[in-house]
Formats: sequence, C-alpha cells, structure tokens
Amino acid sequence: MLVEGPVEVVVEGGETVRSDRVVVALCACRRSRSYPFCDTSHRKRVRTHREDEEG
Ligand code: FES
Repeated sequence: MLVEGPVEVVVEGGETVRSDRVVVALCACRRSRSYPFCDTSHRKRVRTHREDEEG
C-alpha cells in the first residue's frame, strides 16, 4: 500500500514509527522485517504442501 509521506504510523503497542520519504510503502501482509513498512517480503513465494511432497 503506497501512501504519500512523510508519515507517522502508530503500531501495536503504541509505538510511533516515522518515515520522511516522499512515497512510503506500508506492509499489508505482515511478513515485512521492517514492519510497518514494506520490504518486498510479500513477493517471496510460499511453498505449497504439494510442492513439499514433490521435492
Ligand atoms: S506488503 Fe508486506 S512485505 Fe510488502
């Protein structure tokens, strides 16, 4: 999710995280290691159960 910056995001626990970028990508999948900001982890392919069986 792209939003215009700068932004302040209040995360769970009440901490406020700030970004001064002109455009900020917010993570909507919760896989980001930089949560609440997107680090493109959403692009990583998830192996299906069937693929695990096929090796
Ligand atoms: S939307 Fe979660 S890592 Fe990109």
